[in-house]
Amino acid sequence: MSVHKNDIKKVTTHQLQNMKERGEKISMLTAYDYSMATILDAAGVDVLLVGDSASNVMAGHETTLPITLDQMIYHASSVVRGVSRAFVVVDMPFGSYQGNSSEALRSAIRIMKESGGHGIKLEGGAEIKESITRILSAGVPVMGHLGLTPQSIYKFGTYTVRAKEEAEAQKLIEDALLLQELGCFAIVLEKIPSELAKRVAEQLTIPIIGIGAGPHVDGQVLVVHDMLGINKEFKPRFLRRYADLHTIMTDAVQNYVKDVKAKDFPSEKEAY
Ligand code: KIV
Repeated sequence: MSVHKNDIKKVTTHQLQNMKERGEKISMLTAYDYSMATILDAAGVDVLLVGDSASNVMAGHETTLPITLDQMIYHASSVVRGVSRAFVVVDMPFGSYQGNSSEALRSAIRIMKESGGHGIKLEGGAEIKESITRILSAGVPVMGHLGLTPQSIYKFGTYTVRAKEEAEAQKLIEDALLLQELGCFAIVLEKIPSELAKRVAEQLTIPIIGIGAGPHVDGQVLVVHDMLGINKEFKPRFLRRYADLHTIMTDAVQNYVKDVKAKDFPSEKEAY
């Protein structure tokens, strides 16, 4: 029997909260296009993140800073069209929410209206408190992002592990508590010591999703191109590769080129 879209139970923020409460880990991956989103959704990923990492993996930029609001909306609307079950979170790009809270609200509303995404994510703590409050007041679910926040790469200078020193760890805990108090439904913690992530996940009641934050959190997120082995060069310690698509794709394309050159493709059977 085929499954109709309406028969599938969609993931909600409420369900993600329940998953934390009963100790079921949350799976999250990035997605930037329709075809990939259909595969990830059908494979059972709970949350799809239309990450601003699209700036790196889709557009080839060195950082996440150049991607625009229009480009994020384009990626997000493609992902939403491929999803039946997963909760779709859309990253607010650099420059679309830091200026002032009215602009942040306008950007979040554009994302929700024009992409059909289910929630947004933004980077930072106390310094973007007004923007978060304003977006939440419009009924938009907000996911926080603390630790290594790639939109601030020029402030940090490197992509190394964050919050190793007590002062930075303390600020991260305070920011996490603030995000929860404001009403965020979840927080991503990126590249911080496992013990600190554990402390945050234990102290907070909302789900904590880690990337390079160890196993003691409520869920995990990876960039899909990294975990599928499409990117060959990026090899951080936290990354587990579940496939070597770079090799599989290269072999397939080389075989295609060989067949075309050898006049072996198309065959009579592949012609009209
Ligand atoms: O943009 C992104 O891919 C992200 C993840 C690293 C969490 O924010």
